Amino acid sequence: MKFFLDTANLNEIRDAAAFGLADGVTTNPSLIAKEGNVDFKEHIAAICKIVSGPVSAECTSEDAEGMISQGHDYAKIAPNVVIKCPLTREGLKATNKLSSEGIKVNVTLCFSAAQAILAAKAGASFISPFLGRLDDIGENGLLLLQDIIEVYRPYDWKTEVLAASIRNPIHAIEAARMGADIATMPFKVIDQMFNHPLTDKGQAQFLADWRKSGRK
Ligand code: E4P
Repeated sequence: MKFFLDTANLNEIRDAAAFGLADGVTTNPSLIAKEGNVDFKEHIAAICKIVSGPVSAECTSEDAEGMISQGHDYAKIAPNVVIKCPLTREGLKATNKLSSEGIKVNVTLCFSAAQAILAAKAGASFISPFLGRLDDIGENGLLLLQDIIEVYRPYDWKTEVLAASIRNPIHAIEAARMGADIATMPFKVIDQMFNHPLTDKGQAQFLADWRKSGRK
């Protein structure tokens, strides 16, 4: 399973890259807004300098024509830019057009297997089911992920399943167990995955014993 960073923060992306854990990056308009008054295209270019894998840049136009034009514009930023389109009718029209031109599209805001099928048929390179946001309304986001993986399995669709809206290490573990192609995670979740109190305790004990034995 590939690890994407779900952030637009350059320091977080650099930190994860140092561990070899930044196979790609997903941004969205809210994440870009968190970075303050940055120039969108320059910021995406800066991310693409750190990460050689896919970097999602999201369209903000509401109609297909506008998304296609933004897609053409953003695709010029760097060869690894992927255009993110919402799972709306207009978004899938734009996905179909951009994909037919060889531009990779990540279809975002997916909340059902039916939507995921439509995205694959439209030629999406990535489908992003939002696990955490389903959990937030009392549904089980992991069941949706499982559904999409099963429904895609018999076909030769080129769409990679990108588990998104990941909120905790359990989401990441289960996405890996199900065979999701990618999990996109906030840096905080990757950081949580490192932690175990017995690792800290064991390491402290090893070092204490080493020093007690007179070694440096
Ligand atoms: C995916 O590409 C989205 O940016 C992201 O996973 C949304 O996550 P959130 O529900 O934590 O905002």
